[in-house]
Amino acid sequence: MAASVSSARSAREHDLADLPASSQRSRSDHHARGAEFASGRALCDVCVVKVHPKLARARAKLERKLIRGWERAVFSAPQTADGSHEQRVVEGPGPLEANDPRAASLVVALMHEAEAAASAGLVKHAYVIDARHRLEVDARHGHVKQRELDAQTVDKIMGGKDRALRPDRSADLLRAIGIMNADGTISARNAKKYKQVNHLVELCRPTWAGRTSEQPLRIVDLACGNSYLSFVLLEALRLEGIEARLLGVDLREDVVTTSRARADQLGFGEQARFVVASLESLELDAVRDGLGGAPDLAISLHACDTATDAALTLAVRAGVESILCVPCCQAELARQLGEPKSRARAGAALVPATVEQGLLRRSLGELLTDGLRVELLEACGYELGVLEFVASSHTPKNLLLRAKRARSLAPAQWRLDPVRDRCAQLGVDPALLRSLTQLAEQAAQAEQGDRDGAEPERTPSS
Ligand SMILES: C[S@@+](CC[C@H](N)C(=O)[O-])C[C@H]1O[C@@H](n2cnc3c(N)ncnc32)[C@H](O)[C@@H]1O
Repeated sequence: MAASVSSARSAREHDLADLPASSQRSRSDHHARGAEFASGRALCDVCVVKVHPKLARARAKLERKLIRGWERAVFSAPQTADGSHEQRVVEGPGPLEANDPRAASLVVALMHEAEAAASAGLVKHAYVIDARHRLEVDARHGHVKQRELDAQTVDKIMGGKDRALRPDRSADLLRAIGIMNADGTISARNAKKYKQVNHLVELCRPTWAGRTSEQPLRIVDLACGNSYLSFVLLEALRLEGIEARLLGVDLREDVVTTSRARADQLGFGEQARFVVASLESLELDAVRDGLGGAPDLAISLHACDTATDAALTLAVRAGVESILCVPCCQAELARQLGEPKSRARAGAALVPATVEQGLLRRSLGELLTDGLRVELLEACGYELGVLEFVASSHTPKNLLLRAKRARSLAPAQWRLDPVRDRCAQLGVDPALLRSLTQLAEQAAQAEQGDRDGAEPERTPSS
C-alpha cells in the first residue's frame, strides 16, 4: 500500500503542477485524507481517495461544463441544526481559452478535490462558473443541476426594485462584505441585509447627486473598521462613473490590514488607502496627503462613544461638504448625568425620573448626545437631517446624522454659545462641545497673534 500511495502522489504532482496556490494547499489535505480512506472499495485512479460512485457518474458532465474555466468551487457539509456548516472554498483559474493546454489537468485536479471533499463529509458541491452560472451536485445523489441567475431571479432578490448593487453586477463586492455566499447564493437572512445596504446607498446619494466638480469625490472613513460601507460607496460610485478616492482611518492595525487586502481583492487599488491612527491625533495634512486633496465627504459608522465626536470634529476642521455619521454607544453623557450636581440640574430642567432611573438616564444620555451633536454641527454652518439608517428591528444603533455644509464659517464665527448655555443648564459637557470650543479658542488666539504682530510698534513718545 505504501508503494501505491507514493506512486499515486507523483502522478498527482504532475497533474496539478498548474493549480492555484489555494488548491495546492488543499492538495496535501487531500493526500492526508487519502491515506485514511485507503481501505475503500473503489479508489481514485491517481490517488488513494475513495471514489463516491454517484459523484463518479456526475464527473463526465462536470468535466464537460468546466473545461472553459470556473471561478471557484465550494464544498460544504450539510447544515447542522444551528445553521452552521463546514465549508471549503477552492479558487478556480477563471475563464480558460478553448485551447488552453492546462484546462484538462486543472479539471482533473478539481475532480480529485471534489472526491476528497466528499470523502471528508463535504458532500454538497457548487461550481461557480461566472457571476450568472453555477453547477450544483450533491455527492450523495450525483445529479448535476445547472443554476442560472436569470433576470427573474435577479428581480426577486432585488425585491422588484431597481437597486444600486445588482447581485449579478456587484457579486464580488457582495461576497466581500458577506452578503453573498461563496457559491453565489444569498440566504434569506442576508437578503434583508442586501436591501439595507442598497437603502444605505440611496441615503448617501444626495451627497454626490448633481455634483459638477471634475475632481474625484474624496471620502474619509473615520473609524473604518473593515470598511464595508466605504467599499459599498466606492462600488456605487464606480457604477455611476464617478471617480472617487478613499482614505480609511482606524486605531487597529489588523482591521486596516484586512481593509487593504479587501480593497486590492475588489480591484480598488490606488483608489483606496488606509492608515492606522487615532482620530483624536490625526493631522489634517495626513488626510489631505492620503486623498490627494481635501476630503469632500466624511463618513463615520459606529465609532465608539466619543470617537464619534473626534470624527465629527475632524470633519468640521477639514470643512467637508457632507458628513454621514451613525453614532454608537453614546455613554459619555449618561455618566455625567449620574453625577450628583448634573443629576440635580438636569432633573430640575427635565422630567426628574429620566435622570434618576438608570435605564432612562442611559436613553436620555444617548438622546441628548445626538441632539447636541446636531445643534453643534448646525452652529458650525451645517444643515442636518436625522434619519433611520436601518430598521430598528435589525439594530438599535440605527440613527444616521446626515450633514451638509450650508455656510462656510471660520471657527470664530461658530455660534457655540447658545449650545454651551444649554449644556450648562443641564450640567453636561459633551466631548464635541469641548473639542470645538478648543478649536475656536485656538483660532481666536492665532487671530489675536496676527493682529498683535501686524500692529505698528509704538515709540515711547507716541
Ligand atoms: C464598531 S467598529 C465599526 C467599524 C466600521 N465603521 C463599521 O461600521 O463596520 C468601531 C471601530 O472604531 C475604531 N475606533 C474606536 N475608537 C477609535 C479612535 N479613537 N480612533 C480611531 N479608530 C477608533 C475601532 O478600532 C473599530 O474598528
